[in-house]
Amino acid sequence: MNPARVFAETATARTTAARLPVVTLDGPAGVGKTTLARRMAEALALPYLDTGAMFRSLALRLGPGAETLPADVVRGRCAAWPFTLAGSGAETRLFCGGVPVGDEIRTEAVGLLAARLGTVPAAREILREAQRRMGERGPLVAEGRDMGTTVFPDARFKFFLDATPETRARRRLHDLEQRGQSEDLATLTEQIRQRDTMDRERAVAPLRAAPDALIVDTSALDINGVFQVLIQHMEANGGRDALAGS
Ligand code: DC
Repeated sequence: MNPARVFAETATARTTAARLPVVTLDGPAGVGKTTLARRMAEALALPYLDTGAMFRSLALRLGPGAETLPADVVRGRCAAWPFTLAGSGAETRLFCGGVPVGDEIRTEAVGLLAARLGTVPAAREILREAQRRMGERGPLVAEGRDMGTTVFPDARFKFFLDATPETRARRRLHDLEQRGQSEDLATLTEQIRQRDTMDRERAVAPLRAAPDALIVDTSALDINGVFQVLIQHMEANGGRDALAGS
């Protein structure tokens, strides 16, 4: 047999075997990651990890100005609020300090505090280790900003979702209107731009597509369309078995 081919096959086998059974979904605020992660987890019967919810929970507990605290204070306080994950699919539940994480974290003000906390290396370190421990427990769908680049660089499937700030703001406005709330489109666009700047420009683990991620521009697609792109890519590359066997 051609030695070059043997080498290529060995290298491929090693690469696949070394992959973690994790699906990563990264992308900017408001691109639909949480909805898609939940749907994917449901389709694959796996738990999903919303890492934005982890940053939001700690940011809410620490309060404004957490980014100015000394690193050992951040570490000490965060140690009192460990995270656990229970259930799977749409029934996955995240707990912080034994308390279920609920809708109290879902405001734009808490999102902004979370983005500020995301610039603090000590907070990122604590959450990265917690996220990796959850990944060691078995197959997982993990969504956030740095899942494919920093937390799970060996993940079996990596996706990076994107859309313009205007598109994301329009989607957010639509979601708010569905819930009977209203907001000004220009304000929403500005909030999204502000969070993009913090997420993309921070020194540690900035928002970025991993070199081996499939980048999906979601601007012209609805949530079903994006979901189909993700599932088809997985099916063409080993599907659910690729997670079970990796
Ligand atoms: O995905 P989200 O909007 O719930 O995230 C809120 C903020 O948390 C986000 O603007 C930055 C921070 N974050 C982060 O730094 N790294 C992650 N993996 C997830 C979120």
